[in-house]
Amino acid sequence: MGLQLPFLHTVSKKKRNQVICVDLGSRTTKAVLLERRGEIFALTRYALLDAPICERKLSLEQMADHLHAVAEALGNSTKYISVAVGLGDAIVRQVELPQIPLEEMRTILKVNHKNYLQQDLPNHVFDCYIIPPRVSLANAKSPEAARNATSMPKFKVLVAAAKKQFVDDLVQAASSVGLIADAMVPALVGPINAFESSLPEVYAKETVALVDIGFKSTSVCVLDRGELSTNRVVNIGGDQLTVGLAEAMNISYAEAEGIKIGMAPEVEASLQMNVLPLGRELRASLDFFEHQNDRPVSQVYVSGASARSEMIMQILSSELMVECKTWNSSISLQLALSGQQAVEIDHIGSQLTVAIGTALASY
Ligand SMILES: Nc1ncnc2c1ncn2[C@@H]1O[C@H](COP(=O)(O)OP(=O)(O)OP(=O)(O)O)[C@@H](O)[C@H]1O
Ligand SMILES: [Mg+2]
Repeated sequence: MGLQLPFLHTVSKKKRNQVICVDLGSRTTKAVLLERRGEIFALTRYALLDAPICERKLSLEQMADHLHAVAEALGNSTKYISVAVGLGDAIVRQVELPQIPLEEMRTILKVNHKNYLQQDLPNHVFDCYIIPPRVSLANAKSPEAARNATSMPKFKVLVAAAKKQFVDDLVQAASSVGLIADAMVPALVGPINAFESSLPEVYAKETVALVDIGFKSTSVCVLDRGELSTNRVVNIGGDQLTVGLAEAMNISYAEAEGIKIGMAPEVEASLQMNVLPLGRELRASLDFFEHQNDRPVSQVYVSGASARSEMIMQILSSELMVECKTWNSSISLQLALSGQQAVEIDHIGSQLTVAIGTALASY
């Protein structure tokens, strides 16, 4: 199911009964514990932990401690973990490649990625996913469509690259605390997979944008009838909104954070001013798609913790001139949460999107 771009090929593809999926956010780590029940997954537990604070890259030991804390918060019930590789450590691009086996594609990219990705990526690992060609049932039956299909010279391929050091460190950190890193999936892919299984009809038939507002950055993808068309990362996130509010109101960061989350009506004007640059960048991405394809983006689905704010959603909607809504990715799973977690999932769901989508990519 879903896009698959796990960077670890060596692990057995045996279906796990239980798995932990972790989204190492730059502000908050999100983790979900999923249990396989026949063909579907049940969400049995989740955890939110503050990301380790550090100025630079996490040390191996810090990473190991953090993964250990994640597994503990989820009750230490499995050792298998899948990890979302953040926007800073992995890139995703759509390219065209000749019709050759996957293994050969990986080799080509390894030696010749600069050509295909317009970027020099030394010491990276690469993975690909062949995007199934879009052929509607009616067309598939016409002889002309069949001819076109056989003469199609290239595959559309989604390519992901991750820093090799990051992948190696993560595997080692996990194993040092008794965990097994099963798969790594680019964080950008998470919302796409979660969206496909949450709203399959919309995914297949409409042109929508998925926006994930993070701490320091925001990702935006345009999905055109089930196909990933544009994807971009904008360097604005919840952090800048708080910094901007603090400056505008001449208060501390902590106070501004409280006010932002509390959505006090009197901050709307200041918040609007700060959301504006983000709105402008996102609008530019939609414009880019719309001009190239001559199709409007009909709706924008927003995830990440900032999507919990109705005020931010409203400001974005008017800035983008298209409806922006929060969505809860947990609806694609069977919910088997207990107590407080069952009550809070509606509220937390938008923040778990990347973690849930990672699960859907790798299992
Ligand atoms: N209710 C809320 N209203 C508005 N903003 C909120 C709310 N709750 C959290 N935030 C903001 O969301 C941000 C954190 O979002 P999130 O946890 O999705 O980021 P992250 O995944 O850690 O970051 P990244 O994806 O960039 O690595 C913080 O800046 C916080 O202020
Ligand atoms: Mg995030």
